[in-house]
This record gives sequence, structure tokens and C-alpha cells, in this order.
Amino acid sequence: MNHQLSIVTTADGSKTIYNAQVGELYHSRNGALQESLHVFVNAGLNYFLDQNDTKEVSILEVGFGTGLNFLLSADACTTKQINLTYTGIEAYPLTAQMMSQTGYDDYTPAELWESYLTHYPAALAGSVNLNGNCQLQIANCKLLDFQSGQQYDIVYFDAFAASRQPEMWDQQAISHVAGFVKPGGVFVTYAITGNLKRMLKSLGFQIEKVPGAAGKREMLRAIKL
Ligand SMILES: C[S@@+](CC[C@H](N)C(=O)[O-])C[C@H]1O[C@@H](n2cnc3c(N)ncnc32)[C@H](O)[C@@H]1O
Repeated sequence: MNHQLSIVTTADGSKTIYNAQVGELYHSRNGALQESLHVFVNAGLNYFLDQNDTKEVSILEVGFGTGLNFLLSADACTTKQINLTYTGIEAYPLTAQMMSQTGYDDYTPAELWESYLTHYPAALAGSVNLNGNCQLQIANCKLLDFQSGQQYDIVYFDAFAASRQPEMWDQQAISHVAGFVKPGGVFVTYAITGNLKRMLKSLGFQIEKVPGAAGKREMLRAIKL
């Protein structure tokens, strides 16, 4: 993928990246911050923590991108004194310089932000500790090449839209991801389609329709039975 990337401002004032080659933003044009908080932190992480009395949580993200979902999740876990193990899958990692232009330091405690920018290159090569309670690793590979012996409590599925990158939403991709979810674990994504619901149901998930982030009526949460 040839990176033709530029920074743009979304409706809530937070920034995102536009990939001209794919013709797609990294987040909703209706607000990057509100989407990340609504879909991933609230409907994913906070939902899981409300259902499970735990001091440890593991998250797998498909499409790590800028790391906004990671930063907000790490901050939430630090506040709740929960240990977070976070693995991002990213085929086309951004440069640390590009990340430093997102302005996400406005939504992240200074210590976490500094630690993130410092350790980002190392996280692309292996697991790093940030902030004392948070392990971050970024698998620099395509989704279908990602392998792990681990299963995760939560999957954040944040691929580009199916209209732009259909192969990320097909049976092969979704069944590959589904294998990394623990029984009782949660899969969340910003979109919902009949096809996605049918695939996840056939893979042993219970489907929930959840009110969507701004600009979307509904999103999907699925629980592995
Ligand atoms: C919607 S953006 C993710 C935004 C990201 N979660 C964030 O908060 O910035 C989709 C991401 O998927 C990545 N991607 C594209 N094809 C991929 C593939 N085959 N495997 C893994 N990641 C891929 C893109 O490079 C991009 O970073």
C-alpha cells in the first residue's frame, strides 16, 4: 500500500488521517475521538469490565493505525488500576513523526503520551511496558499472517470499510480473527451488516446491535459463547 497520507480534522475537532490511495479516513468524519470512545472504549472495554470482575484485560486490535484506540484504552485501564495487554495488528505502520502530528496528546496523560512515542518503534519489534500497567506489542503484518498462541478478552475490529477493503470483512478474515477471541470475550466494530452478523453467528458468537457512534445508527458487538 503506497502511503499517501494527510492529517484532517473531524467534526468533533479531533484529527485523523486520510489515506488517498484507499480513499478512506482512519476514523469517522463525524469525530475520531467520539468514535473511538463510543465504539471501542465504551461498547468494548468498559462493557467487558462491567461484566467481568478482573484486574487484567487483553485486547487485540485489527488495524492499529495511529494508536488512538490504544491510548484511550490504556488511559482507562490506568484509571481503573487494571493491567492491560494490548496487541495491535498493522500491515502498514505509521511513522512516529506522523503520529506526533495527530494531536492525540490532548486526550492522553502526558506521561503515557511520551512513553508511547518513545516506545512505539520497539513495540513494532516486540512487547514493551508503558506506564507500569500496560504491555503493548504491534504485529507488523497483514491480518491473515498474524499468528498467536494467545486468545484475547476483547477484539477491536477497526479495518477500513468493507466498500474499500472487502477482503478484511470476508469469511476467511472474520473466521481468522474469531479464533483469537476467548470464550466469553467480546468482538466490537463500528459497522454492522447482515453478512457480518451471519458469519459471527456461525462462528459461535451471540450478536448484539448497539447504538452506533455519531453518524451511524447501529454498531456490532458480538460475544463468544
Ligand atoms: C480504519 S484504519 C485503523 C485506525 C486505527 N485503529 C486508529 O485508531 O488510528 C485501518 C488500518 O488497517 C490497516 N490495514 C490495512 N490493511 C491491513 C491488513 N491486511 N492487515 C492489517 N492491517 C491492515 C491500515 O494500514 C490502517 O492503519
